[in-house]
Amino acid sequence: MKKHLLYLLLLSCAALSAQKNTQELIDELTLDEKIYFLIGTGMEVPGLPEDSKPAMAVVGATKNEVAGAAGTSYAVPRLAIPAVVFADGPAGIRISPQRDTNPGQTFYATAFPTASSLSSTWNTGLAAQVGEAFGIEGRDYGVDFLLAPALNIHRNPLGGRNFEYYSEDPVLGGMITAGFVNGVQATGLGATIKHFVANNSETNRTALNTVVSERALREIYLRGFKIALDHSDPWAVMSSYNKINGTYASENEELLTQLLREEWGYQGFVMTDWFAGTDAVAQVKAGNDLLMPGTGAQFKALKAAVEAGELDEAIIDRNLTAILNTYQKTFAFKGYEPSGITDLEGHKAIARQAATEGMVLLKNEKESLPLVTGRKVALFGSASYETIAGGTGSGDVNKAYSISVLEGLKAANVKLDEQLLSDYEIYMKAERAKIPPKALFFLKDELVPEKSFSAAELNKLAETNDVAVFTLGRTSGEFQDRAEADDFLLTETEKELLTNLKRAFSGPGKSLVVVLNIGGVIETEFLKETADAILLAWQPGQEGGNAIADVLTGTVNPSGKLPVTFPVQLADVASSKNFPGSVLDPDAEKPANPLQGVPSEEIYEEGIYVGYRYFDSFEVPVSYPFGYGLSYTSFAYADLKVTETAEGVQLQFSITNTGKTAGKEIAQVYVAAPQTGLEKPAKELKAFAKTDLLNPAESETVTLTINRGDLASYDDEAHAWILEAGDYTFNIAASVTDLKLQTTVNQPEKVLRKTKALLTPKVSIPVFSKN
Ligand code: BGC
Repeated sequence: MKKHLLYLLLLSCAALSAQKNTQELIDELTLDEKIYFLIGTGMEVPGLPEDSKPAMAVVGATKNEVAGAAGTSYAVPRLAIPAVVFADGPAGIRISPQRDTNPGQTFYATAFPTASSLSSTWNTGLAAQVGEAFGIEGRDYGVDFLLAPALNIHRNPLGGRNFEYYSEDPVLGGMITAGFVNGVQATGLGATIKHFVANNSETNRTALNTVVSERALREIYLRGFKIALDHSDPWAVMSSYNKINGTYASENEELLTQLLREEWGYQGFVMTDWFAGTDAVAQVKAGNDLLMPGTGAQFKALKAAVEAGELDEAIIDRNLTAILNTYQKTFAFKGYEPSGITDLEGHKAIARQAATEGMVLLKNEKESLPLVTGRKVALFGSASYETIAGGTGSGDVNKAYSISVLEGLKAANVKLDEQLLSDYEIYMKAERAKIPPKALFFLKDELVPEKSFSAAELNKLAETNDVAVFTLGRTSGEFQDRAEADDFLLTETEKELLTNLKRAFSGPGKSLVVVLNIGGVIETEFLKETADAILLAWQPGQEGGNAIADVLTGTVNPSGKLPVTFPVQLADVASSKNFPGSVLDPDAEKPANPLQGVPSEEIYEEGIYVGYRYFDSFEVPVSYPFGYGLSYTSFAYADLKVTETAEGVQLQFSITNTGKTAGKEIAQVYVAAPQTGLEKPAKELKAFAKTDLLNPAESETVTLTINRGDLASYDDEAHAWILEAGDYTFNIAASVTDLKLQTTVNQPEKVLRKTKALLTPKVSIPVFSKN
């Protein structure tokens, strides 16, 4: 009864606060309260120095409102202003499954496939469906803001958080982001697009100066954010840890005010990444409205600056207005009472569908896949038994379970070699027991090393099995980039096992199928020579094993395509030359605060030549090209019709399923601009579409419109977008290297659109050019 009354009271209080408009609320706040609103209520991280500790909770302690959530805002009971809760992340709602307040109840969230997997679907509608499921879980568990999606660029295969990001291409990344944000926010949960901008490496991330040209920023790193803002309305933006051309993103007025607000018209608010930047006053002045997770040192610095006349209260009010205008839309401000129970059952199906649709079939020879019913499978690889659902750090999810490949194949009634299973079971248990628990949650998970087999053992297994399925696993997470040895490259044990498996399973009717359970790009040349079939499953979330079984058995026809290029070797990637930057002073001491890095610099010498833009323009061979992916069926492209207007170009064409199995196709439009004036990539993705499930002989008409303005390139010297006059070739393609239909559209005159000179590098960056 008491609880009921309290609830009614809270509800009416919250509703009351919502009735007041932002200005009325601001008028009633004291200076201290205003400052508390600009910082979160803090986060206790063991081992952090004094200045990282939360501010005194004089206004109302709201920490741990939702156990395990990354952050909370202050509540002002006097004014009935409730706390607002922020929770990660890109693969599901990251909160603690237990709450002291609700003993016996669990709050597990669904672990959806990781971002790279979602972007491999090239399905913006599916991204919206997944986003909606995130929204429902957040709403039901008491969260107001999702700290996702993350859309930094896969600049280099070794990026430790690439699994959390969508693509090497901003059009694909931006459009998937928009779909996802629209889905999340349809439920009333706020989405936060992050990390703005150019947080493409993890090494020394909090002390890293990213040196990058205006052109590369505008065409690559900012572009996805701009597309996301054009096609959705995310409530918040999270600035990134790194500096951009000398100034921290969170302290960067050109980035957060002149570009984001003034040029792009953004109306929401900006928060820092957790503990980012060093100067709270500069952050507030720059338009970084909210400092997260909030520290006592920041409160003191802001108050002292106001008192000393160095920080105008009007600036504080400006930031508060952006924050409170958005908070007014939240569940908390609307007095919504979360149920604590969510549709985990329903979301299993969405997680499974998204995971299957994000899988990319890289190779399929000897009719290895789909597995014919009755074929007997010998299941190899630690990741078949402990399948990796997602990466670590803030992108992790506290899920109720995770289905392994073994469990998925069993549930699909695939005939498995039982002796091998029980050998693995014993091995995995013994090896797992040797691995100590992680000291800190954000450290990389340690995987069980591969079990080795003698050639004789494998030959014996090949006598009684038809197919060897080997799952190869990789994981990564925050604070650390990946390594080339034993991570991008296969380990010696993996190579030996694969070589022997190939030998053993090479006879008639035998196959070796490799499943890649990875978060980022690895070397595939060796694999290609060894395996008969390769399925890139990514880190497919908690339903991973079931989803892998769906694709291996043919219950679902794979329809994913690569959102990133797989190079022949790491050194072929243009950014490998300077990734992940270099330490400025090799003798510098490591800071006492474990979250702070050593001052470093990363020069983006490759400029706009990121991913396929480089390989395609410089004619460097790749292992698997951007946009590539096989199907169990085939498609034909035909009937291209072009309609030109002054604003844009409309392309219409048909896609027909010419094979024997129902399937979906992803069509991509790559435009080659005239090479007059600025040098340009050979061609660039400008639009894409995924068909519905097409039955054999069924066709779909695809219509895509591309604005002429989106064909422009950015000129660093003129500080302008330039749409060159001349012929633009539109290639409708199945991948960046598999061009199907072509048309040329003429742009009669050059168009120049001036911008302010923003984020200009302070040093000259060597020119990276084809000429
Ligand atoms: C990450 C963010 C995340 C935040 C809160 C940071 O370490 O970079 O992506 O949202 O933590 O958990």
